[in-house]
Amino acid sequence: NWLLTNYIEKTVAEIKEKVGDNKVILGLSGGVDSSVAAVLIHKAIGDQLNCIFVDTGLLRKDEGKKVMENYGKHFKMNIKLVEASERFLSKLAGVGDPEEKRKIIGNEFVHVFDEESHKIEGAKFLAQGTIYPDVIESQSVKGPSAVIKSHHNVGGLPEEMKFELLEPLRELFKDEVRKVGEELGIPHELVYRHPFPGPGLGIRVLGEVDTEKVKILQEADDIFIEELYKNDLYEKVSQAFVVLLPVKSVGVMGDERTYEYTAVVRSANTIDFMTATWSRLPYEFLDTVSGRIINEVRGINRVAYDISSKPPATIEWE
Ligand code: XMP
Repeated sequence: NWLLTNYIEKTVAEIKEKVGDNKVILGLSGGVDSSVAAVLIHKAIGDQLNCIFVDTGLLRKDEGKKVMENYGKHFKMNIKLVEASERFLSKLAGVGDPEEKRKIIGNEFVHVFDEESHKIEGAKFLAQGTIYPDVIESQSVKGPSAVIKSHHNVGGLPEEMKFELLEPLRELFKDEVRKVGEELGIPHELVYRHPFPGPGLGIRVLGEVDTEKVKILQEADDIFIEELYKNDLYEKVSQAFVVLLPVKSVGVMGDERTYEYTAVVRSANTIDFMTATWSRLPYEFLDTVSGRIINEVRGINRVAYDISSKPPATIEWE
């Protein structure tokens, strides 16, 4: 695709020109936008790019490991993995309110990132995976969903950080970002990942969050996602994940009575994420997912499927 190749060549030249021999910092999240931005910038300036990946302890199973493998090892990018789970989990202890949790996670993220970025001496630029719809959203009057949920990663990083911004994807729509990503050699599967909220599993463990619940949820979610890929369904739905309810119910395993948590499997189909329908996943598939979660994840003995549309429900549960 010569248009994309042109775009990449043009942007690489612009980045080189703008950055010179200065250092650039980028917060890598594992998501599509920051990853594509990182690979593009890395193509232009190589090791002058310093990526920071913060493991909040609220990410999907093995996310840090996968990011280091995919982008550190394969693309040979310079990435610092910051293990900050303790910090996030301890700040969240005893907090059940969703908005409160979002604020805590957002603030902590800014703190950790700020600390880490100051350790990188002489960095002049902060790169972000801002795409065109983010630019529009931040210019428009905030809609109701912004009021209901403060999306902490829209609106960017702390203003007190004195960096010049580098946003090479600012003019692109999501589908274009994906194409650029594939053209840059990022595997298809990574470029077509579902969106993942900034507060992560912090808002998918309903109510109070602790390490044990996060671990249980990571395992269950991983099974669901793995089955979606295996059954060629992942890209047929817009966003899919598991939610952990702080509700225990009675079950039976062998001849033992169990009393464990309930997991909810959620999958939505949507174009703009403002309205959505629940995915009509095949019964047989749901049966496989439910069976695997209950058999393989200790701590869950019941699985429900969310059949609510948006509105009036939202895609996330918090
Ligand atoms: P809802 O639940 O409002 O979600 O239907 C719509 C889309 O927004 C994502 N979402 C968030 N993303 N920080 C984010 O970065 C957040 O606090 C947040 N809350 C919801 C959600 O995953 C879905 O894609």
